[in-house]
Amino acid sequence: MNRSFAWVAMGLFFALMTTVAAATEPILIADFEGADYGKWKVTGTAFGTGPAQGKLDGQMPVEGFQGNGLVNSFRGGDDATGTLTSPSFPLDRAFITFLIGGGGWADETCVNLIVNGQVVRTATGPNTQAGNSERLSPAAWDVREFAGREGTIEIIDRRQGGWGHLNVDQIELTDDRGLIPLFLPPAPLARNVTRQLVVDQKRLHFPVKNGARSRVVTVSVEGKMVRRFDIELADADPDWWAPLDVTPWAGKTLTIVADVLPVGSKALDTLKQADTLVDAQDLYREPLRSQFHFSPQRGWTNDPNGLVFFRGEYHLFFQHNPYGWNWGNMHWGHATSSDLVHWEEHSEALYPDEMGPMFSGSAVVDWKNTSGFGTAGEPPLVLIYTAAGNPTVQCIAYSLDGRTFTKYAANPVIKQISPGNRDPKVFWHEPTKAWIQVLYVENPGKRHSIHLFQSPNLRDWTLSSVVEGGIDGDKYLFECPDLFELAVDGDQNNKKWVLTAANSEYAIGGLTAGKFVPEVSRLADVRGQGFYAAQTFSDVPDGRRIQIGWSQAPSPGMAFNQLQTLPCELTLSTTPAGIRLRRTPVKELETLRDGPQHFGSLASFRGELIELQAHFKPGPAETIEFQLRGAKILYDALRQEISVNGHRAPAPLIDGRQRLTIFVDRTMLEVFASDGLTYVPLPFIPKAEDQSVSVTLHAGSARLSAAEEAAIEQTLQVYRLKSCWTKPASPRVNSK
Ligand code: FRU
Repeated sequence: MNRSFAWVAMGLFFALMTTVAAATEPILIADFEGADYGKWKVTGTAFGTGPAQGKLDGQMPVEGFQGNGLVNSFRGGDDATGTLTSPSFPLDRAFITFLIGGGGWADETCVNLIVNGQVVRTATGPNTQAGNSERLSPAAWDVREFAGREGTIEIIDRRQGGWGHLNVDQIELTDDRGLIPLFLPPAPLARNVTRQLVVDQKRLHFPVKNGARSRVVTVSVEGKMVRRFDIELADADPDWWAPLDVTPWAGKTLTIVADVLPVGSKALDTLKQADTLVDAQDLYREPLRSQFHFSPQRGWTNDPNGLVFFRGEYHLFFQHNPYGWNWGNMHWGHATSSDLVHWEEHSEALYPDEMGPMFSGSAVVDWKNTSGFGTAGEPPLVLIYTAAGNPTVQCIAYSLDGRTFTKYAANPVIKQISPGNRDPKVFWHEPTKAWIQVLYVENPGKRHSIHLFQSPNLRDWTLSSVVEGGIDGDKYLFECPDLFELAVDGDQNNKKWVLTAANSEYAIGGLTAGKFVPEVSRLADVRGQGFYAAQTFSDVPDGRRIQIGWSQAPSPGMAFNQLQTLPCELTLSTTPAGIRLRRTPVKELETLRDGPQHFGSLASFRGELIELQAHFKPGPAETIEFQLRGAKILYDALRQEISVNGHRAPAPLIDGRQRLTIFVDRTMLEVFASDGLTYVPLPFIPKAEDQSVSVTLHAGSARLSAAEEAAIEQTLQVYRLKSCWTKPASPRVNSK
């Protein structure tokens, strides 16, 4: 080729490229930055009259949208519904890209592309949070086959209840979707897919694919629906199997119906019956199963519920989704322990019913049989819980054996006060010989509050007073209240009442005539991340006030998710700042210590599960740094502050000394400082290969000599811990 021809050819090529590039500029369909939706049509209330500016009242933080505005159908909460429809536009690019988050309900919380009156593309949110926020993710549809036609976008929210909303932003037509993943066109669907089987084992196992479309499954026996739940059914290749206890219907025929499945889905064909869990050989030995924190065998947990000591056992009930890795289908799961350390999980204690899912609540031993559910010689265990349907009401259930639970036939015991009323915590108040209940009452747009009720018998409740909390986004005195009395500095003649809430802020005061009168309020308690909805045990024989909280520590890739924090004893102490809560891990945890404590050189220490105790008297400018399996805990004596993987918290010296306790488990880290005045729990997954512990001391910027470090090590105790899951994997179904 001669040179001048080559130049001409190149010039032509560039000219062509420029024209092509101009034709493929992305076209913005909507960025939702205006005050209203412009030409889009709105129906219902969920979308309001215009785009939202991030999260709405009562919603967790929303991230991942562009600019300031987005479509957010949480207007009026999860129960609001509506639609938002675009004007039609020509489909003259290869892809439509958008950002989407929120509810993952096919046909119910979705964005649809309509061509010729038909839904040709659809997408939903993921039904999950990312960390502590709802995050929108980029998605794309391939629309090449509709070139030259017109399309309309329809954003739908028909879903009520959990994740009943959708977030959408930045809808564009483009020829270059880059790395944005494609939402595939909808597969042909079959409705009411049915399978029948005769129960011949204790459990029926459902295949779950995390992140798959959620289906509604019903189980019926002799024409009566006995179970109904949402589940991300695996059409093939499940991630894990969710067990349903079918012992009540042994020998009977179950009819299982999935509301909708892609044609050809194997989901119902693969249902299996077996007494034990599927993959039971790995139970409690899974890579991300924390080894001394409670987590459910399968599924999701959030709040601890019904913490009580009854008939020689500690009971831990817990918010449980047995069929999913995420929140949903709230049941009360159930586990027991003789020592607060080794837990044995049992069948679900409370299943959702026609009054709704089973939200949080508490349990008491009714020693005087005031409820009449037991006898004087055989006092009943009474559970007080929220049935979160419409209306949302407070109910009770009872048990004589601590294994089987009967719901009270005349439920509810407290009717709906506001749609968000929930989380009853009950205790016996000896001075007035009455039961007292604290109940969270949500009041959208107004001040929310904690209501105090009294009852002679756990069945009939009268409102006695109201403590006001924050307004809307303000979480002061929010959900999951607890109220208990503690001696100040161990002085039985000087007791105070402590009112706590889900975010662990608390008030200290008095309780007179059914009214809580705060002396100090809004005290910040737990520092760290993901500690929530803690509750204290009722009826502990030695009178200790023991608390467990929910730790939002995820277990990615496992058949279970989230866990409960270490049980801690709460006490009240006088400090220079006033009276404050202190938290000490219960002494029973010492039984987990494996072998003799480790002094001396840390260089040779290796441990997977670790407890470290350090007592030291630092010089004024010293910082001391602990590294445990990659976790970095830094104590700064000048600032009197601790930093745990970057989370800083005040940690005053007490008599010039600092006492630290650090626990490292497979998915969480807990640090106690300043004799328990400071507690920093954090989700944390240590590096598998790193089993080392090191301590380094700095004075100013200088490192200390080996001799000086040796002096510090004198006060160090490091323990390898044993797993609390010592029992062999055993069937979790009760033999009744
Ligand atoms: C707190 C909470 C409670 C509610 C429960 C539902 O985490 O929102 O208020 O009862 O979770 O799972």
